[in-house]
Amino acid sequence: MVKESMNISIFGLGYVGAVSLACLARDGHRVIGVDVDRHKIDLIGRGKSPIIEEGIQELMEQVVASGRVTVTDELVAALDASEISFVCVGTPSAPNGSQSQGALLKVTKEFGEALKNKNGRHMFVFRSTVVPGTVEDLLAPLIEQGSGKRRDIDFDVCFQPEFLREGSSITDYDNPPFTIVGANTDHARNKLRTIFGHLTCPFHVTTVRSAEMVKYCCNNFHTVKITYANEVARLCEALKVNPFEVMDLVCQDRQLNISSAYLKPGFAFGGSCLPKDLRATLYMAKQHDVNLPLLASLLHSNQVHIDRAFEKIMSMGARKIAMIGLAFKSGTDDLRESPLVTLAERLLGKGMDLAIYDGEVSLSRLLGANKRYIDEHIPHIGGLLHPSLPKVVTHADVLVLGSRDALVHAELQTLLQPNHRLIDLAPLKDPSGLTCVYEGLCW
Ligand SMILES: NC(=O)c1ccc[n+]([C@@H]2O[C@H](COP(=O)([O-])OP(=O)(O)OC[C@H]3O[C@@H](n4cnc5c(N)ncnc54)[C@H](O)[C@@H]3O)[C@@H](O)[C@H]2O)c1
Repeated sequence: MVKESMNISIFGLGYVGAVSLACLARDGHRVIGVDVDRHKIDLIGRGKSPIIEEGIQELMEQVVASGRVTVTDELVAALDASEISFVCVGTPSAPNGSQSQGALLKVTKEFGEALKNKNGRHMFVFRSTVVPGTVEDLLAPLIEQGSGKRRDIDFDVCFQPEFLREGSSITDYDNPPFTIVGANTDHARNKLRTIFGHLTCPFHVTTVRSAEMVKYCCNNFHTVKITYANEVARLCEALKVNPFEVMDLVCQDRQLNISSAYLKPGFAFGGSCLPKDLRATLYMAKQHDVNLPLLASLLHSNQVHIDRAFEKIMSMGARKIAMIGLAFKSGTDDLRESPLVTLAERLLGKGMDLAIYDGEVSLSRLLGANKRYIDEHIPHIGGLLHPSLPKVVTHADVLVLGSRDALVHAELQTLLQPNHRLIDLAPLKDPSGLTCVYEGLCW
């Protein structure tokens, strides 16, 4: 039981709404459930669950018997009798793939009307999955227009993604990976902390837009994982390898595989292993007539990322360009399949006046280690390498930062001048102290 019991209304009593209603009432809150489906209201009114889920029938019976649950199809009455509304109406796919927001817009318009005559501050917590920007750009203005009241003062709008999975929804409700709250006011953050702060998971507060986006990123990541495992299985079958054993071993690596490694936005992948092994995998698949659309798309997506950097640099309209970093990864002199080399070649192809700094590559060239590779494969690039970072910086109007070397980043802080423009592919940990014009690749 929570310390502070609240009056909460829930709009939409499908999978998310019904489970939330039962769990919030179980936790001690007084909950009013609202749906346009009379059948669902009747069922809950009789202590029965409108959805089939493990444990929900028993819980629904209990909470309805406790007297803490009421159900209605009257939106105004529900809003009047509560201080917080959770919105869980469906947001299914439209035929063209866009999100169908009809139910959400309809109920939100009605909130505006209902709020007009309500005394006291009210809080709307949108839990339906919505396209980023929906809550702040579409739903909050609808409530403002209908009610004549001001967001963040008379009412709050928040977005709190729901992470439950059908089939284990009560367990998931109580044990989410985290609570993500997108809210603009302390009032809203504190209320949500009161309701969900007892959960053992981390409680993260962020912007409304980020919270909206996190939900999509989580679901899409799950989709990528499932598809990856299934593509592995199809190839394994053709190669007479046990896919369960392979994926089980893959998952044992908590350093690089099942971890946050490789999940930070940055520049394209490259190097002597990833592209070649991916190509060999796709060739194996082709030999065995196995179709792997996800894996087959990766080199193209990587190329699109390099294109993006190239277009951004070209859009600056400068000719004198410095590239800081050339190897495929900082801390190495390996230039094989470095996307920064590809980028340099494209800039040269457009006649740009290019100067390149990469401490490791210059050093290894001096020692002769990488000299042969540069002389044989990219002699046109080798001639543009300069051993001095200050010289390269002075040469340029636009600087392209590919190096992730912290020492280089620190030196740049002092070298960069207000007339410089920096395009960051690395990315820098904190560009706020820079005196030059800063642009991230896509951030
Ligand atoms: N199902 C899941 O596992 C899950 C998990 C996380 C997030 N979500 C998201 O949560 C949202 C709800 O999903 P769901 O599966 O519970 O949907 P659902 O279709 O099961 O339920 C939606 C309910 O909203 C009701 N409704 C429609 N218009 C209404 C209105 N004007 N007023 C009151 N009620 C209204 C419908 O009658 C229905 O009962 C979706 O945006 C979904 O993407 C779902």
